Formats: sequence, C-alpha cells, structure tokens
Amino acid sequence: MPIPTTYSFTRYLSAKKSVDDRALNQHVWQSLAAALPCAPPEQPLQILEVGAGLGTTVERLYAGGMLTNAIYTAIDLEPRLIAEARHRLPQWAAAQGLHVRQDSQEQIHMQRPGLDIRVATEVIDLFRFIAREQGQRTWDLLIAQALLDLVDVPTTLPALLSLLRPGGLLYCPITFDGGTVFQPEIDPEFDVVVEACYHQTMDRRLVAGKPSGDSRTGRHLFTHLQAAGAEVLAAGSSDWVVFAGSNGYVADEAYFLHFIIHTLHTALTGCPHLDAERFTAWIAQRHAQVEQGTLVYIAHQLDLLGRVSASIGETRK
Ligand SMILES: C[S@@+](CC[C@H](N)C(=O)[O-])C[C@H]1O[C@@H](n2cnc3c(N)ncnc32)[C@H](O)[C@@H]1O
Repeated sequence: MPIPTTYSFTRYLSAKKSVDDRALNQHVWQSLAAALPCAPPEQPLQILEVGAGLGTTVERLYAGGMLTNAIYTAIDLEPRLIAEARHRLPQWAAAQGLHVRQDSQEQIHMQRPGLDIRVATEVIDLFRFIAREQGQRTWDLLIAQALLDLVDVPTTLPALLSLLRPGGLLYCPITFDGGTVFQPEIDPEFDVVVEACYHQTMDRRLVAGKPSGDSRTGRHLFTHLQAAGAEVLAAGSSDWVVFAGSNGYVADEAYFLHFIIHTLHTALTGCPHLDAERFTAWIAQRHAQVEQGTLVYIAHQLDLLGRVSASIGETRK
C-alpha cells in the first residue's frame, strides 16, 4: 500500500486485531478460560475492560467460548473509539447469528439460546471511573489489554484491583516489555539509538504532570502484582511479529506498520540524541520497506493473568 498521508487511530486498532490474534499467549489464554468461574443464568459474569478501544476483546472472548452469560463493561477515554465500538459490536454480533437488541445507546444485549451477553460502553477516564465505582460495585474479571504500559502501574494497579471481588481475576495481555525490532537493519548503530530513544519517550511520558509509562512494564508487573497483593497465575510472551508473505502483509497489517513508524516519527521528532536529517531519512526508508514488503517488525510483550486474594468475603464457585 502507498504511504498514508493521514493517520487514524481507529483504523490502527482495527488493523492491530489480526496482529494480536497471532500474538496472544495461548497458555495464558487457556489459563484464563480455566480460571473463569461458571456463571449460572441468575449470576452473570461481571467483566470490566479498561482502555477497551473498539471492543475487539469482546469478539475474541466470544470466539474462545468464554462469554456465555456476562455483563461486560467496556470503558475508554476516547469518544471516537467508543462510538466505533457501538457501531461495530452490533454488526459483529448479528454476523454471529446472535439476536441483538439495543437496550440504550450505551448498552447492547446479545442473545441466543444458552447465551446472554450485555455490553455496556462508556467514554470515561479510568481514574474517574475508579473513583466513582470504588466501594460501589465489583467485577469478577478485569481486562487491561495494551494499556498498563501507558499508566503509572505502582499507583494505578492497586486502585484497579480494588474493583475486583475477592478472588477476582486480572488479565493484562499485550503489555509492552522493552523490545522494538525492525529488520532489515538500515544502520545497526543508528537503529539501536532510535530504539533506545523511543523507549525513553515511554519512560519519561507524563500525563497531567504524572509519570505515565514504562517501557519494561511487562517484566515489572510480576513485582507490582505481588506488591498489590495479587498472585500471578500464568504469564507468557505475546510478541507482535509482522512480516510479508508471498501475498504481502495480511489483512490491514501494512497500515498497522505505517502507523507504528508514524508513531515513532511523531514521538522522536526533535529528539536531541538523533540527527534530524538522518532520522527523517530513516523514517522514509522504513515506510519504503513496508511498501516493498521487506519490513519485519517485532515488539516484545507479555501477557499476565493474576488473581486477588480470596480471603475477604465469599468466592464464587
Ligand atoms: C493501545 S490502545 C489499546 C486498545 C485496546 N485495548 C486494544 O488492545 O485494541 C490503549 C487504549 O487505552 C485508552 N486509554 C488510555 N489511557 C486511558 C485512561 N486514562 N482511561 C481510559 N482509557 C484510556 C486509549 O484511548 C486506547 O484506546
């Protein structure tokens, strides 16, 4: 595909789905399936997804047989993403042969015999959501996919976990863990500097003046979960690996790659450690490699499944 002239985060998230599908760690996924409590009709599974984007995790959990009787709350900061989720999910559900009812603008209800899923979507910052819901409501499963590397985990994780019922589960797949690889090499020394500078932008990211990111979030999660009183039930790598086969890049993955290069370009423009002219040429060459189908991109990520202590109150069986 030609180099895009404009970029859409919505299209990027949609293009990311096939990359995630390949990357998600199957051991952690199966462990999640095994750990989920069974949900009788009178007690649907309560699932909360923070930073839900387009709602693709709903589609994936359904395909994996993990959503049969559930109330799914999907929140995201970005109105255009939630608008797209509201547009996309009913169409997807109808294509699965589910009976779809719009309970309200915010909630869709999907049914077939033996299956009942309500998905409520909301545009809200997760910190405001936590402040509003803490002590009011709890969930059986909390999902944070490709999100924890964007926040300050030591302070955010305990607050998020407080939304889980005793014994509740946390599933945090596609958590970045300090590896960005582009092949073929352009200039091995410069490639390494670009990668280091890119990771530094994550480590130094501030949102509203607060630290919000860590380029090695994945590996640090083990300690953070333990410190927050949660047990790690399963963990494994979920690296993105994108390359072109004989028919080019699959699905919309050429766009995904252009978007990643554009993100690097935006993040590192003005970086004092990079010669501006050389960096501009480097970016142009990476885009050209996508057009030629020669670019291979690998991002190292981890999936973790955790459980909070069941010692307080009753655990659902
Ligand atoms: C990398 S995207 C991942 C989206 C989705 N989980 C996926 O994997 O396709 C991160 C998402 O988190 C959302 N997000 C970031 N900070 C947030 C916050 N403070 N509150 C709610 N959502 C947030 C972004 O709008 C974005 O949709």
